[in-house]
Amino acid sequence: MISCVLRHQNKAILSTPATIPPRSSHPDFAGTAIYHFLVLDSTNAFAMRLLQKGHPREGTIILAAHQTAGRGQSGRRWYDAPGQNICLTRILYPDIAPQQQFLLNIATAIAVRDTIQAYCPAGTIMIKWPNDVYVGDRKIAGILIQTTIQGQRVTSCAAGIGINVFETDFPEDLPNPTSLRLERRRLTASSHPPALRVPLRKYEVQDTLMLELTARFRQMHHDAESLHEEYHTHLYRRNMPAVFHHDKTTRAGVITGVETDGRLRIRWDNGEQGRYLHGEVELIM
Ligand code: BTN
Repeated sequence: MISCVLRHQNKAILSTPATIPPRSSHPDFAGTAIYHFLVLDSTNAFAMRLLQKGHPREGTIILAAHQTAGRGQSGRRWYDAPGQNICLTRILYPDIAPQQQFLLNIATAIAVRDTIQAYCPAGTIMIKWPNDVYVGDRKIAGILIQTTIQGQRVTSCAAGIGINVFETDFPEDLPNPTSLRLERRRLTASSHPPALRVPLRKYEVQDTLMLELTARFRQMHHDAESLHEEYHTHLYRRNMPAVFHHDKTTRAGVITGVETDGRLRIRWDNGEQGRYLHGEVELIM
């Protein structure tokens, strides 16, 4: 049985069929704890609170129909319009070395990418380093991985994912956002009928995402190398001329890949090679 706790403003809501959003009873989620909130500050913040208080079951999922304080990367906010998008966090106990923790970003990013591809079959879906998911040059999903390290092990992880599903009006300050609905409209307009055969239902996209996450986290433990290769295959603007902000200047170069520790490899136009952590270089779009 899926255990479901439906809450609003942190009070449990009577679970009448009318208030429970449609959800799958997919057998793969048997035994998975799923917390489903109508409104929550942040699914990642809730996951971190669960982890501080106890030992939630591995694979626990936290979903919110709306977040009031959604967290993005580098301390930014993550915006979502109520009910329109997916805000999901999954709890894991990866038990890997801290030097390997970028694998969590890789596994999550591939799972999200493949999910988007399933509902946007003719789109070009790429992963922008370190782990944004793009359709063409538009951002459709973001990922926030928070880990706890004890000694020489990554003991727990809250893998947070935001996917824009139905949203069509975004705040003006977001650079180039898109959603599944907008991209499917584009595909339909350019006559790609397969996009229409799979209907767009949020709970189905969520189910696909959860299954993809399960598969990719498993793969992380037994075939990390091919996961890394796959990440490279889908890496946005790899081996293409690009321009970056770096050291307060603008430089031209080419992304040649990503190290296993997550550093971005760039070959600059003057022939120099460099490896950069998140925040040290920025690709100019
Ligand atoms: C980014 O692109 O900056 C990362 C955005 C991550 C957003 C998701 S939504 C679900 C989870 N809960 C949060 O507060 N953030 C992540």
